[in-house]
Amino acid sequence: MCGIVGYIGSRQAYPIILNGLKRLEYRGYDSAGIAIYDGAGIQLSKTKGKVSDLEKRVKKEIKTTGTLGIGHTRWATHGVPNDVNSHPHYSNSGELVIIHNGIIENYSAIKKALIKRGYSFYSETDTEVLVNLIEDIKKKENVKLGKAVQIALNQVVGAYAIAVFDKMKPDEIVVAKLGSPLAIGIGEDEFFVASDATPFIEFTNNAIYLEDEEMAIIRLGREVRVRKIKNDSLVVPYVQELQLNLEQIEKGGYDHFMLKEIYEQPSVIKDTYRGRLLASEGIIKLGGLEDHIQKFINANRVIIVACGTSWHAGLVAEYIFEDWARIPVEVEYASEFRYRNPIITEKDVVIAISQSGETADTLAAIKLAKQRGAFVYGVCNVVGSSISRETHSGTYTHAGPEIGVASTKAFTTQITVLTMIALKLAKIKGTISQSNYMKHLRELEMIPHHVEEALKSDTKIRAIAEVFQDAANFLYLGRGYNFPVALEGALKLKEISYIHAEGYPAAEMKHGPIALIDEQMPVVVIAVNSNHYEKVVSNIEEIKARNGKIIAVVTEGDSTVKELADYIMEVPKTPETLSPLVTTIPLQLLSYHIAVMLGRNVDQPRNLAKSVTVE
Ligand code: AGP
Repeated sequence: MCGIVGYIGSRQAYPIILNGLKRLEYRGYDSAGIAIYDGAGIQLSKTKGKVSDLEKRVKKEIKTTGTLGIGHTRWATHGVPNDVNSHPHYSNSGELVIIHNGIIENYSAIKKALIKRGYSFYSETDTEVLVNLIEDIKKKENVKLGKAVQIALNQVVGAYAIAVFDKMKPDEIVVAKLGSPLAIGIGEDEFFVASDATPFIEFTNNAIYLEDEEMAIIRLGREVRVRKIKNDSLVVPYVQELQLNLEQIEKGGYDHFMLKEIYEQPSVIKDTYRGRLLASEGIIKLGGLEDHIQKFINANRVIIVACGTSWHAGLVAEYIFEDWARIPVEVEYASEFRYRNPIITEKDVVIAISQSGETADTLAAIKLAKQRGAFVYGVCNVVGSSISRETHSGTYTHAGPEIGVASTKAFTTQITVLTMIALKLAKIKGTISQSNYMKHLRELEMIPHHVEEALKSDTKIRAIAEVFQDAANFLYLGRGYNFPVALEGALKLKEISYIHAEGYPAAEMKHGPIALIDEQMPVVVIAVNSNHYEKVVSNIEEIKARNGKIIAVVTEGDSTVKELADYIMEVPKTPETLSPLVTTIPLQLLSYHIAVMLGRNVDQPRNLAKSVTVE
């Protein structure tokens, strides 16, 4: 996700926009830019790097006087972070300038059509395509900017929060929203535009939050006019009086970034498959994979290298790839793989999974694999990160910045990408029936809804956390696809509450860990509908017979485990193969609430860093 800021009024726009960008930097920070109307033309400066880098560049490059302007801090989704790909973007004539947060899925088709009409492009971004589409319509239809924006947005598919102005009519800013947030601050004869209220809360607490598929023409000297993009009909806007403080707004009103990111999972899973999963057409489109399919199909095996939560996502992928695509998979801790002189050949495909794209051990494992001839594919969340540049190709998760040290939305979006890869390979190899393939596409498309439903148990899970906050140890058990989720749940608890927790395959209990069971040992058991269900029920009975306290994750409506467990956390019914995407939700919430009750620094737990760039 990116941060957008705009201002039109009687004050100097530059300081307001620059300060606003600093406040939005948590939303994205790989490049930044600003455009100011100086009374005659547009002064524009943009750069790879942080807002502080932009500030230095502005001082050297442009005049900053002017009372109309827009600014942007980027979290790249299309095009690596560099100066050219930074926002704002000009239209070809130089008259329009735009900033955008979101993804235009059909930008390449629109770009081809515009090139045929004589347009040139200087960046790799979807945003530059959008501003030239608006310009093309404005000139062709001879309409004002607002009308051109409305027509253009009815031709694009994707998500956006945009702000655009025309230097030929510098008394207005046009904004529009679908899928990405956009707030309009209403001042005394001045207006602010931003991704959230942090850039303008010191100037006004009156705000309009546009709804999806709404746009607004913000013109000095009159009320904000909000319209429906679909049919241009007027909307009576609801002006909110904000009571939040700055810090609360950055966290979207949540107490911690981790909780915000847990709740972002429905939308970021959707962002991650947007434009890639076309369920009704039975198509999966993964740009980074298309040219390398045969390498996967002909591979002797897939070796997955990762660390921490990303390693757990790799374990889930092992089940998915072997179960569906019948491709042998080995999952390796990158830190072990890189030192143990592994056997790697040209017939191997390595998948490197990393949220930050900067984990030193994973990067080293990639380099070793490349040296020994393997094809290396990345699954990263940060565009242009070291790992994304080191791998031969890859697929980005679109989780947006993950600020909390404990990884949550990265895990579910990584599994979403890996599931799409496995499904695509299985379809090509013919190892999955057409009906099962189509069923899984539809079920994957439903996952954001199921995650929404799972989040509704938050209050109940908080009450369970209250009961167990003083436990000294936890066991987490799962079978099959949910064994890696048991490991992930234990890691979440350990790293933010500092309570010792171990994840185990449920069947392994009788090989030792069951000696640990007594009334002091809470055991979290993932017992959703699956091929192993009866066996997990037996494991629960074994624990119960030894006075263990059982917290079970169950499929909603389950009546058997409900009778056995001390506490249950329900999740919607999904195919077992997709269940990790929902069973992980209550475990994230359980660890979060226990950590908060223990007064831990949830977003920055002791001894930990968000990205382990050291060995
Ligand atoms: C997970 O909650 C931890 N923050 C940590 O294990 C993390 O997953 C690991 O360091 C790998 O990071 P990466 O995904 O950025 O490579």
